[in-house]
Amino acid sequence: MEAAGGEGDVAAELRQRLAAGGQDHVLRFWPELDGAARRALAAELCRMDVAEINRFFRRARGDGGGAAAAAAGLDARMEPVPRDVLGSASRDRGLVPRWESRGLAEIAASRVAALLLAGGQGTRLGVPYPKGMCDVGLPSRKTLFHLQAQRLRRLQQMAEEQHGTPCHIPWYIMTSGRTMESTKEFFQKHRYFGLKKENVIFFQQGMLPALGFDGKILLEEKGKIAMAPDGNGGLYRALGSHGIMDDMEQRGVRSVHVYCVDNILVKVADPRFIGFCLEKGADCGAKVVEKTNPTEPVGVVCRVDGVYQVVEYSEISLGTAQQRGPDGRLLFNAGNIANHYFTTAFLKDVVNIYEPQLQHHVAEKKIPHVDITTGQLVQPEKPNGIKMEKFVFDIFQFSKKFVVYEVLREDEFSPLKNADSQNGKDNPTTARHALMSLHHCWVLNAGGHFVDENGTRIPAIPRLKDANDLPVECEISPLVSYGGEGLEQLVKDREFRTPLIIDEDGIHELVNNGV
Ligand code: UTP
Repeated sequence: MEAAGGEGDVAAELRQRLAAGGQDHVLRFWPELDGAARRALAAELCRMDVAEINRFFRRARGDGGGAAAAAAGLDARMEPVPRDVLGSASRDRGLVPRWESRGLAEIAASRVAALLLAGGQGTRLGVPYPKGMCDVGLPSRKTLFHLQAQRLRRLQQMAEEQHGTPCHIPWYIMTSGRTMESTKEFFQKHRYFGLKKENVIFFQQGMLPALGFDGKILLEEKGKIAMAPDGNGGLYRALGSHGIMDDMEQRGVRSVHVYCVDNILVKVADPRFIGFCLEKGADCGAKVVEKTNPTEPVGVVCRVDGVYQVVEYSEISLGTAQQRGPDGRLLFNAGNIANHYFTTAFLKDVVNIYEPQLQHHVAEKKIPHVDITTGQLVQPEKPNGIKMEKFVFDIFQFSKKFVVYEVLREDEFSPLKNADSQNGKDNPTTARHALMSLHHCWVLNAGGHFVDENGTRIPAIPRLKDANDLPVECEISPLVSYGGEGLEQLVKDREFRTPLIIDEDGIHELVNNGV
């Protein structure tokens, strides 16, 4: 690139290309930039396909109402998930052992991979590092990454014990330009939490510029474009551009469990879910939790015009959200938790054929930016522009055999979205409590008891009633138990004082050895 001074050939060429796309305002402050800043900006702009960005914007905005027209009358076109494609961890309890052993057999054959979506910016949580590095204050101080890695280790061990063959679950971790370096460093520092380094594969999703409502690219600084990751559905493009499908093929992976970094209870590579999907011959599956409150802001999995998709809570009327079926449950109750099963064959088709058909969703945001006329940094108080994102569930529509697997929220879903200071929902405290409450249940179910400081048994009220109730402090290492299994020999007929920690080194805070 040219040194600071007059514009060189590259800058002139860039200007021409940007002007053709109506985006040359991003060079407005070029004369004020020093050499390094010019080189960085030029490099960023060279990587950018302005014509494609403009096309994405036009399509996302619906080319004059196309999207709005498609959404029109959605309520009338929606159908709930039929019972024959639905499996339920609680209502089909009798079938769960079969699903679990099928899933474990597949894991034992090293045909299952986990894929973590960890490219988000975590703006609501507001920590200056990737969300997976968050420590929510558990007694062990384990981070989200740590818990997930240990769940994978435990599963490998269970599969090996049952099938007598060594196996591994490759762990694909999608990061973004904003999270890649720190995520990798964290894993290195923690020696991959005991997993084999070669089975932890990082790859990076794409980024797109934030745009004003008029489609103009926004500047974060005078020499820097305001870039944001292209949504968790950026996964499919990234899988192709980083050769991940080839890697899966070489490793013999056939089933992939895709999940979000922020759910502290996530059952990574859940053998029951995988076994259920395999038994059903599904190419695509969604794990859901029951939506019980019509106004809960969660998307629901359903069929629209006979095709599966997630309908956002904002897209339907209250009347539709309130409808109930003969069993008294909400008719549209399959709450999406971004927790999916895909066969590699299906993913390959998505990457090679369907991905370009996916349209970006538009999120209106408050985007700090440099005012192009004054050069001042603006911190908007109301949304001033858009970010364009694809969603991981956008590909349901292409599935030929789609299934839904319902689990209990208190067993499997507690997302970390907000900081403790913001509101009482989905924050480090609720995440920590959800995990400890679940582990408390596991101990009770395995025949253990808790006593208070006077030795009196604490009543077995396993679930939290409201956010201010403190849970019994209990944490069980995933290396000891993946989903509550194997605890009887450790806790049955024993009394414990809290905090209780059960880890690979044993039981801590044990009061006495039998009652
Ligand atoms: P969210 O939509 O909750 O976004 O992501 P976020 O980045 O975590 O948080 P906010 O909205 O900025 O506060 C759900 C999941 O999708 C991943 C996130 O890392 C999280 O696991 N994600 C999101 C990506 O992998 N890439 C993206 O571009 C966006």
